[in-house]
Amino acid sequence: MLFASGPRKTLLAALSGAPCSPPPIWLMRQAGRYLPEYREVRKSVPTFLDLCCTPELAAEVTLQPLRRFDFDASIVFSDILMVPFALGQKVWFVEGEGPRLEPVKDAKSIAALDPSKAPAGFAPVYETVKLVRAGLPDHVTLIGFCGAPWTVATYMVGGGLSKEQAEARLLAYRDPATFQALMDLLVGVSADYLLGQVQAGAEVLQIFDSWSGSLPEDEFARWCIAPARAIVERVKSVAPEIPIIGFPRGCGPLAERYAQETGVDAISCDTAQPLGWIKEELQTKLPVQGNLDPLLLLAGGPHLDARVRDILAELGPGPFIFNLGHGIDKETPIEHVTRLVQLVKTG
Ligand code: CP3
Repeated sequence: MLFASGPRKTLLAALSGAPCSPPPIWLMRQAGRYLPEYREVRKSVPTFLDLCCTPELAAEVTLQPLRRFDFDASIVFSDILMVPFALGQKVWFVEGEGPRLEPVKDAKSIAALDPSKAPAGFAPVYETVKLVRAGLPDHVTLIGFCGAPWTVATYMVGGGLSKEQAEARLLAYRDPATFQALMDLLVGVSADYLLGQVQAGAEVLQIFDSWSGSLPEDEFARWCIAPARAIVERVKSVAPEIPIIGFPRGCGPLAERYAQETGVDAISCDTAQPLGWIKEELQTKLPVQGNLDPLLLLAGGPHLDARVRDILAELGPGPFIFNLGHGIDKETPIEHVTRLVQLVKTG
């Protein structure tokens, strides 16, 4: 039941600043390996990127979690590494290990990235968005997304998941002009990519900055806040009505600056950010999303119930979207997700 006479979709209502009871819920990475039906579809294609680039299959896995759980949003099935892939960087996934990229390390390899190729690379994602939008129940909101330039750059420069994001941090310290050129390229391509998803039917956008927690304040301002603000400005200049959620994971109290300076409409909080602090320092300024520990959802039991109730009691009275503090773990039992949704919907 909505308190305000706002839109029928609770996610849009919460993003417009209306407290909702119960609050909308969706989970980051809600489509994926914890679902047997996902694993079945995944087996039918050779690689993970083939799945992302086959619209019928990507749309099918996007819709799978909605058939099991009463989620209020659906996030298009794709990956943040579609951007380097579309720019012509070599990207592949090693089973059980994660993404690998042929690293870009210097001005020459950055100049070799070709933004003119990107629209063709993004076309299958836009097709997926269209297919999902056509198949969604009326009350469910469709979210499009991209990785934030900083996080995407950590993979592009490091060649994959990298400890402490050392390669990107070092390039940014040693050769800031070259690193800035990479960030400028990513800002432009990511904004176009988000607008393409909006044109195809995305109703909300989320920017994932999964590694924003590795930077000191000045670098956080330059490599996380400034690019996010540039993307938000570009997107809003064309599609001012589309709410944008920022997720600067791991940045602690710097989330306040992120919330104030980027222009995002809502902020997603990670598991380490204290509920009382989120309520006082963030939710007084904008709607918040989060922040259940994905590993507590995996563990389940009375501790899960108690924590979900704490989150609801603390953040539920303000504009709030229930979510995890990071993506769902692949070992998560399905019954725990069912229990979570039941708790959030019925209190
Ligand atoms: O949320 C959803 O349901 C939409 C799909 C989605 C995926 N990745 C699918 C995926 C989204 C929103 C992402 C975002 C993403 N991808 C992020 C940002 C969020 C975060 O988790 O921090 C990052 C950093 C990536 C990069 C990435 N993609 C990594 C590190 C991995 C390996 C992780 C692992 O557990 O192996 C991926 C692969 C990936 N992306 C999978 C899925 C379902 C698993 C691959 C498979 O099924 O074979």
